[in-house]
Amino acid sequence: MRLLFLGDLVGRAGRSAAIEALPNLRERYALDFLVVNAENAAGGFGITEQILIELLDAGADVVTTGNHVFDQREALVFIERYDRLLRPINFPAGTPGKGAGLFKTASGKEVLVINTMGRVFMADLDDPFRAVERELDACRLKTGADAILIDFHAEATSEKEALGYFVDGRASALIGTHTHVPTADQRILPRGTAYISDAGMCGDFDSVLGMDKEEPLSRFLTKIPTGRFAPALGEATLCGVGIDVDDATGLARAIAPLRLGGRLSQTEPKFWLPDTETS
Ligand SMILES: [Fe+2]
Ligand SMILES: [Fe+2]
Repeated sequence: MRLLFLGDLVGRAGRSAAIEALPNLRERYALDFLVVNAENAAGGFGITEQILIELLDAGADVVTTGNHVFDQREALVFIERYDRLLRPINFPAGTPGKGAGLFKTASGKEVLVINTMGRVFMADLDDPFRAVERELDACRLKTGADAILIDFHAEATSEKEALGYFVDGRASALIGTHTHVPTADQRILPRGTAYISDAGMCGDFDSVLGMDKEEPLSRFLTKIPTGRFAPALGEATLCGVGIDVDDATGLARAIAPLRLGGRLSQTEPKFWLPDTETS
């Protein structure tokens, strides 16, 4: 099974680039399943129903989020109407929406997606380790799902690696989001789970984490806010990872970064390309 995950869409630059690219990416790699983190899709803060609909129409199977999920207040209401929009599972009991779901691919395979959030240098949520374990116990690889993908929205690489090893052999992939900067540590863990500390953002990299660089820079220099954070609007780089899942085991065979457009060095998962393109 071929899974593609794209990291945090930031503002119009990241959102438009992703919406335009999704149909092409699905076709180019013959994807079975596509997940996008869109917690910063609406002006850098949260997601609107309109944006969610555009992402689903463009070919996203599931949209994950993180700490910014409810920055647009309308999300508190419409999240209840969309199974395909997830918020971190370890939010307090009673928070609108869901943190996990089982989804069917076009070929009839079932994919469990879990969205969870870290607690190191972040809000004091419920334990993400126990929250993920409850889901994995309820829906095991191969008996409950053909593939299991976890979006771990977290700040600290230590917490991300620890959760990666905690789920190793029990999930197809654990993908970090939130820092907006792609890491170079993608690998298959010893028991077969694909891992990366951060997929990176889909947004304009001529920026500070996707935001126009003037205001963040000025706040570091003076500690005085002079305006609002606004997303940078230059050409976006799409950042994510492709994961090739072994249909027999549900574990990962390969993971590779995808970076297309904009300012970052370009790369894509070569194991999905025809030989003519890789030679
Ligand atoms: Fe983000
Ligand atoms: Fe975040």
